Amino acid sequence: MSAKVAPSLLSADFSCLRDEIKRIEKHGAEWVHLDIMDGHFVPSITIGPLVVKALRPHTELFMDAHLMVTDPERQVKPFVEAGLDLLTIQYEATAHLDRVLRIIKAAGIKTGVALNPATPPGVLDYIWPLLDLVLVMSVNPGEGGQEFIPAALPKIEALAREIKDRGLSTILEVDGGINRQNAREIIAAGATVLVAGSAVFKADNGMHLIREVSAFDFEA
Ligand code: DX5
Ligand code: ZN
Repeated sequence: MSAKVAPSLLSADFSCLRDEIKRIEKHGAEWVHLDIMDGHFVPSITIGPLVVKALRPHTELFMDAHLMVTDPERQVKPFVEAGLDLLTIQYEATAHLDRVLRIIKAAGIKTGVALNPATPPGVLDYIWPLLDLVLVMSVNPGEGGQEFIPAALPKIEALAREIKDRGLSTILEVDGGINRQNAREIIAAGATVLVAGSAVFKADNGMHLIREVSAFDFEA
């Protein structure tokens, strides 16, 4: 089983996002991770559907959006129309999780739910059939460049076991504080997609991490 890196544009140069996408493409990326923050669920504000729509014609990368937005049900339509491939919402950001996931699915793109570090995996018990991806937050959402929270590892292991036991093919993505030093351990715990922002865009030879991770090989 192999894993991949989804480079997070949050740590890219925002004055030339199109060039930054070309750079990760050149280094073998298949996904690009877009962190959408609303200044409410988290203090920062990043990008909205207009930017996604502007970038869409310039890349065929799988656009993986992570909405750190309160009441995401109000934002699904413009983001889907902007051309995303997958929309992940935060479990903690809505009282209507089942409903939002159904809206996303009905719009024809893939669904994801992100769990904050303190949120237990059991909250997914009744929505597994609606999920294409689970995102384990290994930092508290809001900014790049934070340190990986080790308690995420047993959570990844528990979720990987659950996905296997249920016979599902749900993607297990992990986000926050991932770098060249800890990537192997996170994949060994069961992650299949690693989000990395600063380790790709701000570290020495960071772009090489994309191909390095794809080359790791683990027993399924
Ligand atoms: C944090 C974001 C992450 C962030 C990861 O709220 O969801 O995607 O960009 O950045 P690094 O890899 O720097 O921890
Ligand atoms: Zn993210």
